Amino acid sequence: MRTFFLALLISAPPLFATVCPPRVAAEPHVRKLRKWAGQAKPLGTPVAQHRQDLPVLIIGAGPAGLAMMRELQDAGIPWEAVERWIEVGGVWAADNPESPAYPGLRSNSSYGTTHLGDPLPDEYPDFPSAPQLHAYLKDFAVRHGLRRGIEFNHSVESLEKQSDGSWCATLRPGRALHRIHKCYRAVVVASGSNSRSSAMFPAALFAKAQAAKLSPIHGSYYRGPEPYAGKRVLVVGSGNTGGDIATEVSRVAKQTLFSARTTPWLVPEYIFRNTRWEEPADLFAQRRVPDFFYSLEMLAFRAIQKFAVGHPTRDLGLPAPIEHDILDRLPTVDRGLAEALLEGRVLPRRGLVDFYGRRPVFHRGNREEPIDAVIFATGYHHGNFPFLPQELKEGAKEPALWVFDRKEEDLLYLYEVGVAQGVWPIFVDQAKAATAYLKAQTAGTANYELFREARTQTNPDFKGRRFRLAEPRFLDARRYSDYLHGFRFWIQE
Ligand SMILES: Cc1cc2nc3c(=O)[nH]c(=O)nc-3n(C[C@H](O)[C@H](O)[C@H](O)COP(=O)(O)OP(=O)(O)OC[C@H]3O[C@@H](n4cnc5c(N)ncnc54)[C@H](O)[C@@H]3O)c2cc1C
Ligand SMILES: NC(=O)c1ccc[n+]([C@@H]2O[C@H](COP(=O)([O-])OP(=O)(O)OC[C@H]3O[C@@H](n4cnc5c(N)ncnc54)[C@H](OP(=O)(O)O)[C@@H]3O)[C@@H](O)[C@H]2O)c1
Repeated sequence: MRTFFLALLISAPPLFATVCPPRVAAEPHVRKLRKWAGQAKPLGTPVAQHRQDLPVLIIGAGPAGLAMMRELQDAGIPWEAVERWIEVGGVWAADNPESPAYPGLRSNSSYGTTHLGDPLPDEYPDFPSAPQLHAYLKDFAVRHGLRRGIEFNHSVESLEKQSDGSWCATLRPGRALHRIHKCYRAVVVASGSNSRSSAMFPAALFAKAQAAKLSPIHGSYYRGPEPYAGKRVLVVGSGNTGGDIATEVSRVAKQTLFSARTTPWLVPEYIFRNTRWEEPADLFAQRRVPDFFYSLEMLAFRAIQKFAVGHPTRDLGLPAPIEHDILDRLPTVDRGLAEALLEGRVLPRRGLVDFYGRRPVFHRGNREEPIDAVIFATGYHHGNFPFLPQELKEGAKEPALWVFDRKEEDLLYLYEVGVAQGVWPIFVDQAKAATAYLKAQTAGTANYELFREARTQTNPDFKGRRFRLAEPRFLDARRYSDYLHGFRFWIQE
C-alpha cells in the first residue's frame, strides 16, 4: 500500500505534465503582462532619440552573449561583440584566467536544459564536462557565423551615453596602453558574474587565514585536489562549488571539514536511477505542473530526495536545523557528497565564525584541531558591471524583467537569473525578448511606448512558490520563460 502511494505520488507531476503540454500557459502571462504594464504611471519624459544607423554592442562572448548574437543575426539587426578573452565560452573556457572551471567540472544541469537551441551532440553524456560544453559553444559560434562579429582580446572599460542617443564605449585591446572609442545604437551586457573578478568572500576571515599561513583561496582559483593530498582542509560554503570541491578533496586529503552557514538540501542527479524510468532530475523538475499542485509536487520531490540521497540532517548528519523546503533556496546537487558524509571523509560543521591561529572556530562550537588549508567556496557578486556609469550601477542589480535597464532605453542585460535547471535556455528567451524589443523600437509600436513607463515598476512575480527564501534573482524558470515569451508578442503590438 505504502509503495503504491509513493509510486502514485512520484508519478503525479509527470502525469499532470502530460495533461498540460508546454506553452499553454503563455497566453495567461501575456494577460498578466498587460495588466502589469497597464499600472504604469506616465513619466512625462520626452521621447528618446535612438541611433538606429549604428550597430548594437554585445559585451561578452559566453553562452549569454552567443545567444544574443544569434538572435540579432537572425533578425538582421547589425551588431558587434567585444570579448576580453581570446576565445568564446566564458565560464566554460577553462584556460580563460577569469574562469572558475576546474578540471573535474561537469555540468549539474543535463543535456535537456544545457543548450542554446541547437541540441548537444548525441555522443555527449547526460551531464557534459566543461571541455565538451566549451566545444559545443565554439561550434555554435562557427555554425551561426558569429566569430567574424566578435572583437576578441578587447575589454570594455567604460560606457557613456551621448546626447544623440548613442552609447560610446571605451575599449582596451589586450594590455595595450592606448584605448579605442566606438559608438553604438544600444548595449547588451552579457559579461556574466561567475568570474574571479566577481568573487565574494568574507574578507576578515580570509585575512586571518592568510595570517595563519593557511594558503586560503576562493573557489574560483581551485584547480584540482592535488595540492591538498594528506592535509587537513576546510571548505567553506555549501553551494555546488563547495559540495563539488569538498567531495573531490576528501578523496586525497587526510581530513575534510565542510562548513555550511545554511544547511543545504542535497538533490540527486537522476531520479529512478538504474531503472527504465531513469531521468536527469532537472528534466523531471522542469515538467509543467500547475501551481495549484505545487504542494503535491513538493511531496513527490521530498519522497524522491529521501530515497535517492537521504535527509540532510537526519540521514547525512549535516548541521541541524534545516529551516527551509527543498526549492525555497537553490539545492546542491549530490555528486558524491552524501557518500563522503556517510563514510566520514567529509566532516560537516555549522558556519565558520573565526580562526584561532590555524584552528577554525564554528558556530557555537569549540576550536577544532589545526588545519593546513582553507578554500572559500562562497560564491560571486551578481549584477556587478564595472564599466557602467556610476548612476546606473544600482539599477543594474535588478533590471526590468531582468533584461531592460530601468532608466536607459538602449541598455539591456542578459542577466544570469537563478533557476532549478540549466540557465542557457533562459538566455535564449531573454535574447529573443531583447531582439523583439529592438524591433519594436524601430517600428515605434504602442506597447514600446507603454513599456517606457512600465519598466520603472517592480517586476511581476516570477518566483511563484519557488525560491521563497532565496535572493530576488532566483526565479521559477517556467513562469519567467512564459512571461518573456508573452513579452515578445506584446511588445510588437
Ligand atoms: C563552476 C560553475 C559551474 C556551473 N555549472 C553550470 C551548469 O551546470 N549549468 C548551467 O546552466 N550553468 C552553470 N553555471 C553558471 C554559468 O555562469 C553559466 O552556465 C554561463 O556560463 C553564464 O554565461 P554568461 O555568458 O552570462 O557569463 P560567462 O560565461 O561568465 O561569460 C561572460 C563573458 O564576458 C566576458 N567579459 C566579461 N567582462 C568583459 C568586459 N568588460 N569586456 C569584454 N568582455 C567581457 C568574459 O571574458 C566572458 O567570456 C556554472 C557556473 C560555475 C562558476
Ligand atoms: N557542477 C556544477 O555544475 C557546478 C559546480 C559549481 C558551481 N556551479 C554553479 O555556479 C554558481 C555558483 O555556485 P557557488 O557554489 O560558487 O556559489 P553559491 O551557490 O552562491 O553558494 C555560495 C555558498 O557560500 C556560502 N557563503 C556565502 N557567503 C558566505 C560567508 N560570508 N560566510 C560563509 N558562507 C558564505 C553560502 O551560504 P548561504 O547559503 O548561507 O548564503 C553558500 O553556501 C551556481 O549557479 C552553481 O549552481 C555549478
